[in-house]
Amino acid sequence: MPLPWTFSRLVGRRVTLDPLRPDDLEPLFAMQSDPEVCRYLLYEPRSREKVEEVLARDAGAILLEKPGDYLQPVIRDEHGAFAGTLYLELKSVDDRAAEIGWILLPSAQGHGYAAEAASLLLDFCFDQLELHRVYAELDPRNTASVALCLRLGMRHEGHFVEDMFLKGEWTDTGRYAILDREWSQRRSASPVA
Ligand SMILES: CC(C)(COP(=O)(O)OP(=O)(O)OC[C@H]1O[C@@H](n2cnc3c(N)ncnc32)[C@H](O)[C@@H]1OP(=O)(O)O)[C@@H](O)C(=O)NCCC(=O)NCCS
Repeated sequence: MPLPWTFSRLVGRRVTLDPLRPDDLEPLFAMQSDPEVCRYLLYEPRSREKVEEVLARDAGAILLEKPGDYLQPVIRDEHGAFAGTLYLELKSVDDRAAEIGWILLPSAQGHGYAAEAASLLLDFCFDQLELHRVYAELDPRNTASVALCLRLGMRHEGHFVEDMFLKGEWTDTGRYAILDREWSQRRSASPVA
């Protein structure tokens, strides 16, 4: 893998991915404090102070070098407006594996922005970073996220029963994944975005 890698910007047909900026505070706060958006996330709706703290930390998360390093790029729509964020965490260098995640503002959902943004990031993962496997973990009740995994061609690889005590209840985890060769076959057959 060509590490260390400093993330700057990815440009798609409609969406652009670039690092968080200080002026993303308002939409980031609106998104991360929304109970519906947070329903299946690992965290509870966040206060403004918490989002300020997270923004200061994540705006600097642009270097991938070792397991645990992550990117949190902003998805900007065709007008340059904040639509949401993606997450990419390097899980293993030896096994060339990473975890991907996505969150959109409610107003940006239902337009295909997450699918286009995730496709751009998967292109980056496999073409630039030379990853072998990218996976997503989710609450199986999160049907929008399950649909996105399937739209991207990710395979359902596992369902872990009550493996997490989260927000006052035992919660299942679903795992979806795609390999480099599967992504490139899919890309040559039908570009997602
Ligand atoms: C998961 C999440 C990102 C999915 O967002 P989304 O907008 O449904 O995802 P996509 O980008 O794939 O868009 C698909 C939808 O856009 C519609 N769409 C409209 N125009 C489109 C276009 N040009 N291209 C593709 N899809 C389009 C599709 O028909 C589909 O709508 P449907 O669900 O009513 O069938 C979103 O629900 C979310 O942010 N949830 C809260 C946070 C969360 O739970 N994150 C995941 C944690 S694991």
